[in-house]
Amino acid sequence: MAPKRNEQETEGLGKKGFVDIEEILEGNHTGREVKVRGWIHRTRDIGNMVFLNVRDPSGVVQATIAKDGFKEEKFEKIKDLLVESSLKVKGEVAEDERAPGGYEIRASDAEIVHASEDFPIHKDQSIEHLLDNRHLWIRSTEMRDILNVRSTVFGAIHDYFRCEGYKEFQSPILTPLACEGGATLFPVDYFDEDVYLTQSWQLYAEAGIFGLGDIYTIAPSFRAEKSRTPRHLTEYWHAEVEGLWHDLDDIIELGEGLVLNIAEEVLKKNEEELERLDADVEYLRSLDEPFPIITYDEAIYRLQDENMDVKYGDDFGVPEEKKLTSLFDKPVFVTHYPKEIKAFYMKRAEEDESKVLGYDLMVPHVGELIGGSVRETKVESMIKRLEDEGEDPSIYEWFLDTRRYGSVPHAGYGLGIERVIMWLCDLDHIRDAIPFPRTPNRCRP
Ligand code: 4AD
Ligand code: MG
Repeated sequence: MAPKRNEQETEGLGKKGFVDIEEILEGNHTGREVKVRGWIHRTRDIGNMVFLNVRDPSGVVQATIAKDGFKEEKFEKIKDLLVESSLKVKGEVAEDERAPGGYEIRASDAEIVHASEDFPIHKDQSIEHLLDNRHLWIRSTEMRDILNVRSTVFGAIHDYFRCEGYKEFQSPILTPLACEGGATLFPVDYFDEDVYLTQSWQLYAEAGIFGLGDIYTIAPSFRAEKSRTPRHLTEYWHAEVEGLWHDLDDIIELGEGLVLNIAEEVLKKNEEELERLDADVEYLRSLDEPFPIITYDEAIYRLQDENMDVKYGDDFGVPEEKKLTSLFDKPVFVTHYPKEIKAFYMKRAEEDESKVLGYDLMVPHVGELIGGSVRETKVESMIKRLEDEGEDPSIYEWFLDTRRYGSVPHAGYGLGIERVIMWLCDLDHIRDAIPFPRTPNRCRP
């Protein structure tokens, strides 16, 4: 068996004597000779001296290359390097308040790994240009900060569900079923069958709980969204959970718990990134349980009180969600929507059959973060709901079996991961919450 890696004794795979720039900026190497490697972020020369801002995945530090410390030919080559050239630099770390970050490396040696061609991204370029060059733009500080937060969010979701005892379960990406209505299905050319990219893991999860119990997933979902809004992607990452014997209170608690856990982890690991992104750290820090819970009816009254033009039965759009979330200082659960504006699988409320036992969790700036519900358990009601939706129940035969053989109460929800990132980082557009966004007018690079 391979020996277990011990961080005390090893310096990390692939490090080979090089330090992370972050460690220099934390003051851990001052006065010592170090080796760093990365890319040129910025370069400036004053004749006999070149100032290189060197970037690695952990930060940016200034390296000074003095002409008299290098062979003439090498000095000239370093001087001519363009932004994004990759290199290794060796030298002593010194504190210097003029340097960005307060430290610099006084280079005694440098090795050019690759002299970059002229990098196609310069200052102040159009959004379209940056999207065309997304594979290069993800090197930017802004994207790196967001993607760091994103990585924490994914880890926090896994940790939360696993700690709470939920097991990871996978559903197929190719499916003949519409979980969230036929309007946003992406058809796939699948031999002679009508098959689509999945909109949700849920229907398969409802079969999965009979064996595994409480389960969750993180997976891509696809929506052929016609709505070109700043919060819709056609391919997004979806954290979904399905709990056996769970009721509305359980999934409210589980939704609140997940969101608070994500925020807490991001504050713990990425406060610097949040500050640089100009996110509202104070607001995130102020969050705690319980989140307010209001019914759909109450939401309508509150909105009408605020002179919004809504009436009973309307679904909420961006203006309504914006207004509603502005009335609370925490995320807000809206429950008991009219059945007409929610999916076929949601259970009706016993006290009022016109309402469903479901909720949307709404947050400022983004709107709906989570959609969840208790599930209808009776096979006849499920068939009737499908027919009412204009769906062909025969395609759902296998799913209906979950209501034929030991049907049990259960509930679950789905959280849009890019929407969480958008909320945490205060992003104007959801496309920046994902490395390579897919929107109605863009499916490249
Ligand atoms: O409300 P939705 O459509 O619910 C479902 O898919 C359920 N089957 C989930 C479940 O109960 N297992 O989607 C859930 C969440 C939304 O609240 C939103 O955050 C996100 O997914 N979402 C999108 N995110 C980005 N782009 C889109 N086009 C999205 N559509 C939904
Ligand atoms: Mg929804």
